[in-house]
Amino acid sequence: MAKTGYYGEYGGAFLPEILIPTFKELEQEFARIKSDPGFWKEYVHTMSTYSCRPTPLTYAENLTKHFAGAQIYIKREDLNHTGAHKANNVIAQGLLVKKMGKRRVIAETGAGQHGVATATMAAKYGFECTIYMGEVDVLRQRPNVFWMEQLGAKVVAVKDGSRTLKDAMNAAFRDWAANMDSTHYVLGTASGPHPFPEMVSYFQSIIGQEAREQILKYAGKLPARVFACVGGGSNAMGLFGGFMDDPVELVGVEAGGKGLESGLHAARLASDQATVGVAQGYKTYFLQDDDGQMRETHSVSAGLDYVGVSPILAHLSETGRVRFAAATDTEVVEALKLCMRKEGLIPALESAHAFVQAFKEASELSRDECIIINQSGRGDKDIFTVADAIGDPQWEKFICNKAEEYKNA
Ligand SMILES: Cc1ncc(COP(=O)(O)O)c(C=O)c1O
Repeated sequence: MAKTGYYGEYGGAFLPEILIPTFKELEQEFARIKSDPGFWKEYVHTMSTYSCRPTPLTYAENLTKHFAGAQIYIKREDLNHTGAHKANNVIAQGLLVKKMGKRRVIAETGAGQHGVATATMAAKYGFECTIYMGEVDVLRQRPNVFWMEQLGAKVVAVKDGSRTLKDAMNAAFRDWAANMDSTHYVLGTASGPHPFPEMVSYFQSIIGQEAREQILKYAGKLPARVFACVGGGSNAMGLFGGFMDDPVELVGVEAGGKGLESGLHAARLASDQATVGVAQGYKTYFLQDDDGQMRETHSVSAGLDYVGVSPILAHLSETGRVRFAAATDTEVVEALKLCMRKEGLIPALESAHAFVQAFKEASELSRDECIIINQSGRGDKDIFTVADAIGDPQWEKFICNKAEEYKNA
């Protein structure tokens, strides 16, 4: 019999004893809302009046012509409130927190998208809010830190380890252990200890449910393949969830960074450089050294440089249900440029990873087939990174002028 919270050999809940009652409570509350059709109804209603659900499925006519292969459709999660699929998960967890009667939420964030979404939800529901963010990410994602603080959250810059996402997650767990009576930890992705992978995937499955209905309506058939980027795995699990039982190929795209051979990447399932281990309360593939120490990861997109991966995706990779690929930083910037020029869409750097692989495969397919790419977020937040990657001199001049203005103020 399968053990609760396990997907094959991956998953589980490796927790300090002090946190066990809190996780049991969460597991029970999640089971309760899952069997209550009223909860899903309330969630869909909230998302359709506070966010932008159902998000559209956009036919990318110009890209389709450009690649002269499969019809390309794009699921527009960038149109959610706060600009990413992260809103789906935090609003659902917010409704859950209200039901549990807690009054404080904490979260970890890398790119800042999940932090902004959590701070937004906390403001809406009147919760006290603390966001943990690695010091390196605080420095590279200042606009999102600015918004979190304006929304009323306290942002704590974590100075441990590599000062990125995994360290922020460790700090959030420490806070939770000290304050579990009043506090809920709004984990941002389909990773971490049970029940988070299952719970976040369930909340994000709204993406795939909508996309399936929309593609049948617009294209009159199921897609041949669907593509999603993979950080911890939440937008991918969300899209894949709609097609799991269909004859549809599911493709997850990880951060290839500076190339797999360079070692500077975050490809856990698309490379043979990750190994199975237990960290951050669960068992999965981690990029780690022979002593089990987590390795540094690299990606042009802060949201994809997580060192572990959803245990559900680890299992689906092993069983062959999901195929994994990696996109390099350079490929990502090129795909982003093409998408902007051809379709007038500005995907987040994270999402652009999915575009890279879809663009590689679109022309292999025939014109009467279709594919879906999940545009998990919008690219505004990446303006500094993209301007650097493109090397836009006017942007550089603007920033230098602004710096002079501040110096002289
Ligand atoms: C826009 C966007 N897409 C994707 C991700 C990766 O997360 P996940 O794999 O949980 O979807 C992030 C994470 O910050 C993000 O901001």
